[in-house]
Amino acid sequence: MTPRPIISFARLAPPKKGVAVVLAGDGDGLSEAAKACDPGNVLPRAFDVSEFKAKFGSAVDVIAPEKSPLDRLIAVGVGKAASLAETCWWRLGGSIAAQVKKAKEVAVVAELPSVTVGPGEAATIAAGILLRNYSFDTYKTKKDDANGATSDKPARIVIQCANPTAAKRAFAEVEGTVNGVLLARDLVNEPANILGPVEFAAKASELKALGVTVEVLTEKEMRKLGMNSLLGVAQGSVRPPRMVVMQWNGGKPKDKPVAFIGKGVVFDTGGISIKQAAGMEDMKGDMGGAAAVTGLMHVLAARKAKANVVGIIGLVENMPDGNAQRPGDIVTSMSGQTIEVINTDAEGRLVLADALWYCNDRFQPKFMVNLATLTGAIMVALGNAYAGLFSNNDELSERLTAAGQVTQERLWRMPMGAEYDKMIDTKNADMKNTGGRHAGSITAAQFLQRFVKDTPWAHLDIAGTAISSPATEINQSWASGFGVRLLDRLVRDHYES
Ligand code: BES
Ligand code: MN
Ligand code: ZN
Repeated sequence: MTPRPIISFARLAPPKKGVAVVLAGDGDGLSEAAKACDPGNVLPRAFDVSEFKAKFGSAVDVIAPEKSPLDRLIAVGVGKAASLAETCWWRLGGSIAAQVKKAKEVAVVAELPSVTVGPGEAATIAAGILLRNYSFDTYKTKKDDANGATSDKPARIVIQCANPTAAKRAFAEVEGTVNGVLLARDLVNEPANILGPVEFAAKASELKALGVTVEVLTEKEMRKLGMNSLLGVAQGSVRPPRMVVMQWNGGKPKDKPVAFIGKGVVFDTGGISIKQAAGMEDMKGDMGGAAAVTGLMHVLAARKAKANVVGIIGLVENMPDGNAQRPGDIVTSMSGQTIEVINTDAEGRLVLADALWYCNDRFQPKFMVNLATLTGAIMVALGNAYAGLFSNNDELSERLTAAGQVTQERLWRMPMGAEYDKMIDTKNADMKNTGGRHAGSITAAQFLQRFVKDTPWAHLDIAGTAISSPATEINQSWASGFGVRLLDRLVRDHYES
C-alpha cells in the first residue's frame, strides 16, 4: 500500500533538498520566499519559454541547475491571488500533489506577493494534497505497478508558511475531515465479498474509539421493530442485514439532534428484477450514502463538533435467490404503511423507508437528511456535476445548497408535488415502489417523503456523484467520498452551539 505522506509545517526558508514547490499569481509573480528558492533565476525564463501565465492549477517544472541543492523546482499557478475561495486551497493542494508525483522530499513554499497564505489556507493545501494522494491499492500486491503508485516509503511534505505553529493546529482539525472523506472512499471502493453488512457495521463500530455511541441492530431486533420493508430486500442474501445507529453528542444535552441517514446496499444485483451484467460491478458502491454518513460521523467526532448528531445506516445485500422477494410481493413497513414491490431493483427506497421512520420515531430530530445512490435517472437529469436535492423544506434546502457551493459538492434542487406523488399509488396496497418510466428520481423521492411526516427533510440522490464521477484535482479515485465535506460544512455553519 502507498503510505500517506507525512505532513509537517515550517517557516519560510529556501529548502535544501528534494523538490521545491512555489506559488505564482497571475499578474502577481513570485514572492520573495519563492525567489529565494531560485537563486539561479531559472523560473522567469522557464515561464517565458513555456508561456506560463500562472493560470490556476497550471505549472512549470524545471530540473534544478547544477549548483542547486534541489532536484526540481516547480511553480504552480494560483490565478488571480486575491480571489481565492476556500475550495481553491483544497484544489491547489491537489494540483501540487499532481505535480510532485512520487517525489519523497517536498517543500511547498506557501507564500504569494500580494496575499498572505494564512494558517488555515496552509493547512487546507496539505489537506488537498492528502485527498489527491489517495488511491485504493489495498489489493495491489506488486510495487510500482504502472496502474497505481505503490511504494512503501512515505513522502515527506513540508508546508512552509508565515505561521507554522498555527497552521499545524489548523491541520490537526482539517485532518479529521480528510480522514472522514478517505474512510468513506475506502468503504465504497471495498468490494462486496469483503464488505458485507456485518463487516460494514464492524467498521462503523470503530468510531467508538472517537467517542461516538454505536448500536448495531440485528435482523431479529429489526423484525421486532417491524422493519419488513428493509428485511424484504435482505431476505435473498445469505448475509444478514444490519442497521447501525451512531450518535455524537457534542451539543447541549437538551438540544434536539440533527440526523443523517444513509442507504447501505453493499451490493445491488437488482434481486429477481435482476440488472444487466454490463457495469454491474459498480453496484459494490451502492452503499455510498451509508459511507458518507459514517465518514461524516468520523469528522464530527474527530473535531469534537458542538452538536448532537445521529447517523443511521441501513445495511443489506440485494440478491436473487430461492428466498428472495418477488415482484408483486406486499410488505408492511415499520410505519404501518403497506408497499407493493413492483420492481425488486428499486430496493434503496425500501431500506430507507424503515430507516427514516425509525429515526424520526426514536429521535424526533430537528431535521433528517438522507443520502442514497438511489436512481440511475438522476444521472440522466444532472450527469455527475450535481447531486439531486429533494426536500419538503426551503430553509434546509438553501442551507444545503450553500454548503454545496462552498465545498463544491454541489446540489441541484428538483421539484416534488402531488402530481408525482400519485404516480406511486396502487390499488393493491398503500403505495408501490416504482412510478414508471417518467420522473424516476422524483417518484423515488416522493416514496421516501411518505416516511418522514412533517419533519424537515432532504434527500440527496448521489448516484452520479458518489461513484465513477470524473477525476478532479482532489479526487482520482472511483469513489469520491461525496457528501462528507458537504454535510460537515452544513453542521459547522448552522447547527453548532
Ligand atoms: N442502486 C441503483 C441506482 C444506481 C444506478 C446507483 C447506477 C448508481 C449507479 C438503484 O437501486 C436502482 O436500481 N434503481 C433503479 C430504480 C428503478 C428500478 C425504478 C434504476 O435507477 O434503474
Ligand atoms: Mn437497485
Ligand atoms: Zn440500489
